[in-house]
Amino acid sequence: MEVKNTIKDLKASVALARQNGSRIGLVPTMGALHQGHLSLVKRACSECDFVVVSIFVNPTQFNNAEDLKTYPRTLEEDLRLLSENANVDVVFAPSVEEIYPQPDTRQFELGKLAEVMEGRYRPGHFNGVAQIVSKLFMFVEPDKAFFGEKDFQQLAIIRQLVKNLNFSIEIVGCPIVRYMDGLAVSSRNTLLTEEQRAIAPIIQATLRRSVEEMQYKMKPSEVVDWVTNTLNKIQPLQMEYYSIVDGITLQPVNSWEESDYVVGCITCYCGKVRLIDNITYKKSI
Ligand code: PAF
Repeated sequence: MEVKNTIKDLKASVALARQNGSRIGLVPTMGALHQGHLSLVKRACSECDFVVVSIFVNPTQFNNAEDLKTYPRTLEEDLRLLSENANVDVVFAPSVEEIYPQPDTRQFELGKLAEVMEGRYRPGHFNGVAQIVSKLFMFVEPDKAFFGEKDFQQLAIIRQLVKNLNFSIEIVGCPIVRYMDGLAVSSRNTLLTEEQRAIAPIIQATLRRSVEEMQYKMKPSEVVDWVTNTLNKIQPLQMEYYSIVDGITLQPVNSWEESDYVVGCITCYCGKVRLIDNITYKKSI
């Protein structure tokens, strides 16, 4: 596993691999790697001959300076985890100056996909994601790129970005990795206190109940209210939003029949920690 810090060196390694006929896989990350990232990397290694993992805390996708400052940066540990658990060829770990020699002023037209849910609460976030992901796609020109389904809206937006910019890249969505108690694996979990960590799995358990017990008794809007009220009663949980949406357009559905792919997307604070998760109600596409 080689570590490259410059775009020039990255491109040289990828060019060599491509000359040898390798299928190139890319796993973009912001580091602080955990089992969720490793599942993406392992999938990439199983489907591609040459795998690049990028580790870059992208400043343009943070709309909160404090969040950017405190975002965990654990490069040494990340490299150890990758070298011990997967067969990665190149880790691309550039500086901010390398990626943004000039401020990136590009505005991406992401349409309604970016206006709802995270887009409402984190203005500019998805434009920043589109800036870095499009740059990484241009540097690596992978055959496949791997993203987690935990960030469900991000995955939909990246698929749209690929279409809008005519990239010939297959976007592979990978299932959420969960602990035994149902909590989705996330870098932010390390910020939970022991007490909060014990409560956080209730989020997924409540979503699961809404699928198993509520879906056929209630309309989607009533399930949204039920989930919101149930979770808001539990200290220290505080809902930001729960939306039941079409899994492709991300627009809210009014009935279960309206779409063949229905997903519930949640953002809920547990104390000060902002947790994201989702659940599928229906997928017949
Ligand atoms: O999901 C993430 O970790 C980031 O948003 C990504 C895709 C690596 C872009 O910085």
